[in-house]
Amino acid sequence: MTAPIRMLPLFTRSHEGGRSSMTCHYRCGDACDQPVPNTSDNEYFGDLVAAGVSRRAALRAGGAGAALVGLTAWSMPSAAAAAPAAPAGVVPAKGPKSALGFTGIAPTPATTDAVVVPEGFAWAPVISWGDPLFKNTPAFDFDNQTAAAQREQAGYNADYVQFIQGGAGNRGAHQGLVAFNNEYTNDELMFRGVASSADLTDEQLRIVQAAHGLTITEVARRNADSPWRWVQGGERNRRIHTDTPFAMSGPAAGSVHLRTSDDPKGERILGTLNNCAGGETPWGTVLSGEENFNQYFNATGAPDPQGRLKRYGITSAGRGWERIQDRFSVVKEPNEVNRFGWIVEVDPDDPTSTPVKHTALGRFKHEGASVALTADGRVAAYMGDDERFDYIYKFVSKGRYKEGDKKHNMTLLAEGDLYVARLSGDGAADGEYDGTGQWLPLVVDGVSKVPGFSVEEVLIWTRLAADVVGPTKMDRPEDVQPNPVNGRIYAAMTNNSSRTPAQIDEANPRASNKHGHVTEFTEAGGDHAALTFTWKIVLVAGNPSDPQTYFNGYDKSEVSPISCPDNVAFDKAGNLWISTDGMPGQLNYCDALYVMPLEGADKGKLQQFLSVPVGAETCGPVIINEDSVLVAVQHPGEVNGATPENVVSHFPYRGDGQPRPSVIHAYRRHGR
Ligand code: FEO
Ligand code: CA
Ligand code: CA
Repeated sequence: MTAPIRMLPLFTRSHEGGRSSMTCHYRCGDACDQPVPNTSDNEYFGDLVAAGVSRRAALRAGGAGAALVGLTAWSMPSAAAAAPAAPAGVVPAKGPKSALGFTGIAPTPATTDAVVVPEGFAWAPVISWGDPLFKNTPAFDFDNQTAAAQREQAGYNADYVQFIQGGAGNRGAHQGLVAFNNEYTNDELMFRGVASSADLTDEQLRIVQAAHGLTITEVARRNADSPWRWVQGGERNRRIHTDTPFAMSGPAAGSVHLRTSDDPKGERILGTLNNCAGGETPWGTVLSGEENFNQYFNATGAPDPQGRLKRYGITSAGRGWERIQDRFSVVKEPNEVNRFGWIVEVDPDDPTSTPVKHTALGRFKHEGASVALTADGRVAAYMGDDERFDYIYKFVSKGRYKEGDKKHNMTLLAEGDLYVARLSGDGAADGEYDGTGQWLPLVVDGVSKVPGFSVEEVLIWTRLAADVVGPTKMDRPEDVQPNPVNGRIYAAMTNNSSRTPAQIDEANPRASNKHGHVTEFTEAGGDHAALTFTWKIVLVAGNPSDPQTYFNGYDKSEVSPISCPDNVAFDKAGNLWISTDGMPGQLNYCDALYVMPLEGADKGKLQQFLSVPVGAETCGPVIINEDSVLVAVQHPGEVNGATPENVVSHFPYRGDGQPRPSVIHAYRRHGR
């Protein structure tokens, strides 16, 4: 097939969010090029400062205007922050050892086709796109792909990764299970001669559908010093893709808005789409968020009298999937799109179980969901809606967790209360971006708290319901995760280059926020069921020489540059690990994984642990222990102009040399 060139001009520039334009196109449907979906008139609390709500701080700083100036130019009065910063683009090649006993690496230039790990560590792929999961599954063959094979092979582009050591049957120290999701595909890198999704054959469309979803595989290692590797034929191995049946749970299950011609009861949905981050439950299941599901639906000509499609960005012509399945045409099957945008739960120990979509946790561009137990044993789930100017949510279950009762615990996310976050700042005069906040009720005790919305309307059109109650518009909230050691919650605001100077507030303090920030929440009384909290920004990302950056008060001459925080994780000591999505476009370095202690003498000392190859994003970090880290290398080689004939990355450096998204294991080499 002759490759048409019409799409190429779209991919000639780096995107404002830091990714290649190619990544933006396939990953989130060019979301940043679309109008901001949130057109609600909720106040930015910059407006509130101007209106005198933070009058005390404003007066202290010499008036409302001065307070806002203070927010745009960060100036910490502490000695640490006053230390000389590293010159732009220059960082120590090796820093002092981190609390985790490794020497931080220097950032790698954005064109580097290598995984770089600290001295004393090695890395190896655990599993790559196309690796066969079952006994008779064919080996991956780039030039002879079939949908039947892909349904039994590892999916593409993992974001969330979950590791369970031992697992069912307690198989011991050298066996385990890895579950990961498969967020999106890159049609141009998966097949030769494809310049856009419009060029895909029907069979290729079925292949890309089959490469979405989740992959579950048993893993094993030879001994404690060797890497984890997937086990072909493992008894818990499973692929979940776009034709896998899902059940619905919660108040909106069976809603008239979820019924389709294939499913007149609205309770059995085929497939899951664009799964991004996720979370592990205390009962051992996998939670995963359906994020940019909108891009798969052809909405051309679809009526939208209440703005429901527009608020979710369901406005494009899709990816051509309606050519093989009517359900991806919004005109032909208007409710199908309502069946995506949920948190899904999968029991990785039972490959015959039916995965569930939980309506009680609301519908938006779910980045993921991370849970913690409340003081009285209920389950709180923290969730971000990854869109410019969208919100942070919390769900609190009605029922209580029962240790060892998985069947009961798997009902907990079906019923409970849903809240959305409002943050208020206390002004810049105290030298910190911090303040207080409330969880604003959307649904409580089975009753809608949103005027004009029924419970099922709140849950299906959660963004529109939240707009009514006045939450804070955030800079693309990605992972929102409770820290199991200190009980606080850490949320990555990845970036928002659309925020104007008039729209800054203390919680989103930078206009044209290219580099993002990380915010710490402390629930009142330390209880995840609390309705109020305090918050503080602990990392304002960027090059440390940039006066706007902030590393929790640490000396900026000794920290690493970072941009676009995305996934967060914690090690057993409660240190914060951050992976990035956008370093190449913002700082001209490869994306990376960092650790930042939250307590003690090294508090705020951000060190780089590894970097991923050219075009890739670092995802799903799992900090098994100080010697052993899993990451997903997502979209390797995805740079503008790359094709299978013009390969930019050969990661993971096997066989045909094509880039293959993989989960990798970085591990310490003992005694070598
Ligand atoms: Fe899939 Fe919000 O990143
Ligand atoms: Ca403050
Ligand atoms: Ca993400």
